Amino acid sequence: MRILSVTSGKGGVGKTSIVSNMAVSLAKQGKRVLVFDGDLGMANVDIFFGVHPQKNLQDVMEGAPLRECLTPVAQNLDLLAGGSGLYGLCHLNAFQRREILAHIAEMNYSYDYLLIDTSPGLHDHVLHLNSVADECMVIITPDPSSFTDAYALIKVLHQKYRAQKFSIICNQVSDEKAGAQLYLRFADVAQQFLPIRLNYKKTVPFDPQMKLSNQLQRLIVRQDAKSVSAQAITGLCSEIVSQNQMVASPFEVVKSLDILFRPASGHA
Ligand SMILES: Nc1ncnc2c1ncn2[C@@H]1O[C@H](COP(=O)(O)OP(=O)(O)O)[C@@H](O)[C@H]1O
Ligand SMILES: [Mg+2]
Repeated sequence: MRILSVTSGKGGVGKTSIVSNMAVSLAKQGKRVLVFDGDLGMANVDIFFGVHPQKNLQDVMEGAPLRECLTPVAQNLDLLAGGSGLYGLCHLNAFQRREILAHIAEMNYSYDYLLIDTSPGLHDHVLHLNSVADECMVIITPDPSSFTDAYALIKVLHQKYRAQKFSIICNQVSDEKAGAQLYLRFADVAQQFLPIRLNYKKTVPFDPQMKLSNQLQRLIVRQDAKSVSAQAITGLCSEIVSQNQMVASPFEVVKSLDILFRPASGHA
């Protein structure tokens, strides 16, 4: 199971839109996908999927077996819902966070991909979820505050968890050229001041069709596969699958399990 986190410094940049569409796209490509709604306390991936979870992370924390708390979304695609308006969930301690990840690690052989949607910002649980991912995908938009907040998140992840590699997704830009320019500006600043490596992952253009689909609780990759946003997200998923086919090795599987069980560094 390859763990991909989708994160940002600032809210409203498109994390949940991208995670939910990526999940459907990967599942359509025959991959077994588990989505973990890690936007703890404010979880809403279920809304995007149009499902009504009977159980969520809260039940797992109260001792229910994880398998019984998953919500089937489509063929090859399940959701571990995060629970909304649950104060306790956004104040998990380090032990509880590790416990959740240990439960999820038990799913290692049942799924090809674990996609984690996170809260925005610098909360400990956001940092921890990103630190266990094989690939941390940070979303930036042309909004200047998304730029500075993404920089802050990467800086803290580097300082606290020694994370060094990040993938950047440019969302809500006018076109691919504008996305590449945005990436270059960001990479220029970030790599100048931090000893990290950035990887330009994808541009997802601003697409009114996607906005409309989201409002209607329909996923754009299902609704209009030819739209610019759906094409970008499908392309992103195809690239992820082909890259993983090239690099996947037994060593990697062992490594990802090891990371999940390793205590988080830093304070609780
Ligand atoms: N590429 C895009 N084109 C148009 N609207 C988008 C795009 N990505 C996200 N949005 C819109 O931006 C808003 C925030 O998206 P959301 O996925 O909820 O962000 P986050 O999870 O980061 O808070 C929503 O109204 C969504 O429809
Ligand atoms: Mg969200």
